[in-house]
Amino acid sequence: MNKTLIEAFKTAEYPVNGHGKRNMKVLKDAFDTIDDHLESDMYGAGKVIEEFQEKMAKYLGKKSAVFFPSGTMAQQIALRIWSDEKGIKKVAYHPLCHLEIHEQDGLKKLHHIESVLLTEKDRVIEMEDILNMEDEVSAILLELPQREIGGQLPDYKTLEDISSYCKEKGIRLHLDGARLYEVLPFYQKTAAEVCSLFDSVYVSLYKGIGGIAGAILAGDESFTQEAKIWKTRHGGNLISLYPYILTADHYFEERVGKMEQYFIEAIEYASFFNACHRVETIPAVPVSNMFHVHFHLAKEKAEAILLEVAEETGVVFTGYLKEVNDHQCSYEASIGDLYHTVPKDRLMDAFWMLDEKLKAAGE
Ligand SMILES: Cc1ncc(COP(=O)(O)O)c(C=O)c1O
Repeated sequence: MNKTLIEAFKTAEYPVNGHGKRNMKVLKDAFDTIDDHLESDMYGAGKVIEEFQEKMAKYLGKKSAVFFPSGTMAQQIALRIWSDEKGIKKVAYHPLCHLEIHEQDGLKKLHHIESVLLTEKDRVIEMEDILNMEDEVSAILLELPQREIGGQLPDYKTLEDISSYCKEKGIRLHLDGARLYEVLPFYQKTAAEVCSLFDSVYVSLYKGIGGIAGAILAGDESFTQEAKIWKTRHGGNLISLYPYILTADHYFEERVGKMEQYFIEAIEYASFFNACHRVETIPAVPVSNMFHVHFHLAKEKAEAILLEVAEETGVVFTGYLKEVNDHQCSYEASIGDLYHTVPKDRLMDAFWMLDEKLKAAGE
């Protein structure tokens, strides 16, 4: 029986995307060096959670930080706090931000907060979008990088201008920094420098970092105190979160210093795709470890080609393709530890073959 693309990816000699399989080994590696007698956290208190929160607050340059089971929970809460503070149940963000398209309208259904959509779907938020906003909002959320459009970024000056404007107008500025570490090499800034432009910040612990799950929400003491209350209301104050915290800490230490390497590798990888027929990446030159690969070919045809390349070279670029329209499909490339493990000659063979087959597909 023919393999599907996801089966080919899972069994590949050289899968290219991400950090590798999410399996028991990921847990075992993280727990391996931890003292057997280390005690669990208890309902948000205890050494294991408090020390990690302090460490992350320091890294982000904020007074205080709270560990959350998910970014979805953390960000809805952040926007609820800012909306209550100002007495305006309206926030502004990008039309393709996570809250708008991936959270089953949690912000609207649970918190009755309306969203104002800034900009067109295919570009990042610019200063003029904020200046042209007619609604009065309590907060603006910026997602760095803007994941659904390939991880594009505004330039740093724009961030500074938006931050100053929000301060002047009394609008809270929140950062969806699910992939914050990943954009620091492009901006050539520390996490604390970027976060200083925002009133509240969320970072993920399982994307570029590769933990199991979890998020950090950071800001001033009064903000995080309130966030903890909302965490309990949301059922997020679990009796024990230490499996998530310890794995997050382990992989933070292992990977936070590798973001520059992933970024450089992403630029190289995208250039290989862009040298092929019928392929383009968005953005053309990546600004983080991620980018979107668009094949100008029907999904079934592109899938068949990727499977042939997999069969002949052992290199599998992705486990899935998303249909854009009848003649185009795409996937999200995300550079992690695996890219480095693929021998260059194998990778180049795979790209040569990909290009030949894509060229032939048009004839
Ligand atoms: C940009 C962005 N924000 C927020 C989230 C939510 O994170 P979580 O899966 O921890 O709820 C994600 C998850 O994919 C994301 O990509």
